[in-house]
Amino acid sequence: MTHRPAPTDIAIHPLIAGRWSPRAYAERPVAHAQVIALVEAARWAPSAYNVQPWRFVVFEKSQDREAFDRAFATLVPFNQGWNRHAQVLIAVLADTLTAKGTANASASYDAGAAAMALLLQAHAQDLAAHAMGGFDGDALKQAFSIPERYTALSMISVAHHGDAQALPPELAAREAAPRARLPLEEIAHFGGWTDAR
Ligand SMILES: Cc1cc2nc3c(=O)[nH]c(=O)nc-3n(C[C@H](O)[C@H](O)[C@H](O)COP(=O)(O)O)c2cc1C
Repeated sequence: MTHRPAPTDIAIHPLIAGRWSPRAYAERPVAHAQVIALVEAARWAPSAYNVQPWRFVVFEKSQDREAFDRAFATLVPFNQGWNRHAQVLIAVLADTLTAKGTANASASYDAGAAAMALLLQAHAQDLAAHAMGGFDGDALKQAFSIPERYTALSMISVAHHGDAQALPPELAAREAAPRARLPLEEIAHFGGWTDAR
């Protein structure tokens, strides 16, 4: 299941260490039941006041090729390139308004949490899943008549894992590059803000 586990400083849960953003996809349909499990995982994310502002628009290549192609067309060219074998595209949206019509300041935070739950579930199912900001959210909303109050945050592509060696050299090199993160000391402050950065 784990292809590129994070070289963590201390041991963490293998599901979290093992999730990564692959670009090598196989041209083989992902079963609808597997796709449903992804959004079910997202559904159980935490949210402020349990408002659940996340929304997902799911495009399955094997179910509705025409809709899939229209969603695919909203990806930027770089993302279209490595996604040519993607089987599912999932648009992640957030409802920007509360029931009272005021701005929901937590909407993006909550939708991000739901997206992470979806990505982790995909990894648990040994599916490749990769979040992308490189898409035209306004074009997506227009193409699918999505109401104004929803903001399109990301597009997640999903497929069965493919052969990384078959990728163009530049992408194959990226797949093989070590996974890196900021040091823990830079992102976590214990007992108070301890660094002026
Ligand atoms: C909101 C968001 C937008 C992203 N946009 C893109 C994108 O447009 N294209 C792409 O190839 N990867 C994209 N990524 C993937 C990141 O590059 C990747 O998560 C990061 O390099 C860390 O790698 P890892 O997920 O394998 O740990 C995006 C990730 C997130 C969370």
